[in-house]
Amino acid sequence: MNLKEKINLDKLPRHVAIIMDGNGRWAKKHGKPRVFGHKNGVTAVRETTEAAAELGVEYLTLYAFSTENWSRPQFEVNALMTLLVETVRRELDTLNKNNIRLQAIGDLKKLPAKTHKALLDGIEKTKNNTRMTLVLALNYSARWEIINAVQELATKAADQTIKPEDINEEMFANALSTKGIPDPELLIRTSNEQRISNFLLWQISYAELYFTPLFWPEFRKEHFHEAIIDFQNRERRFGKTSEQIS
Ligand code: IPE
Ligand code: IPE
Ligand code: MG
Repeated sequence: MNLKEKINLDKLPRHVAIIMDGNGRWAKKHGKPRVFGHKNGVTAVRETTEAAAELGVEYLTLYAFSTENWSRPQFEVNALMTLLVETVRRELDTLNKNNIRLQAIGDLKKLPAKTHKALLDGIEKTKNNTRMTLVLALNYSARWEIINAVQELATKAADQTIKPEDINEEMFANALSTKGIPDPELLIRTSNEQRISNFLLWQISYAELYFTPLFWPEFRKEHFHEAIIDFQNRERRFGKTSEQIS
């Protein structure tokens, strides 16, 4: 039996989020510049997107560029932004063929104009697709997102559109950039790092965490399947006892 057949399709996570890490170290391992790693990371993005859509995962969120990543060398930042434009443009037809909708979270207005435009264009041209939503986290920072939500709600409270005591989890979640998207049930991070790096802090409250030593450019469909199987073998208790679950 191959890996994919071991997956219980009735117990899929609706939303999987991935911290794609290790491009630079993968390139170094092959004696190449870091940007070579980013370029090869695109293959892993394609494979993972396909694997998720084939299984029936509804949302796949990929952490592509954090707010902190602006502090990398200018050359690398430029290369990443160009790669993003090229990839979004190049993959548009495939996304449409596979009925996949593109979305983005993060402070998108601060992206270079070209990147921003390509992204908005991709979102617009795939907006009616229904099989899966691919969410790119770009210039994303969870703390930025939370502060943004707090400012929005505080403004509404100040002009009396809402009462402070009306603020609940649902209202708060709706002020985040992931509004309308269910919380990820599974968070994957590659490259042996075991940290969150300012990603989806509110949304991953109860996510299962899965870490793999593979560098992102090495990640393939079968590795995605492995992560899903691992997820399905866990007991998600949500504060209850094991006996209450079974
Ligand atoms: C992930 O790989 C890609 C981005 C953060 C944009 P890295 O570029 O962080 O690779 P390492 O961690 O330096 O190996
Ligand atoms: C996290 O990776 C951000 C993305 C994958 C886009 P980093 O490589 O930037 O994370 P740190 O700085 O090592 O935690
Ligand atoms: Mg890294």
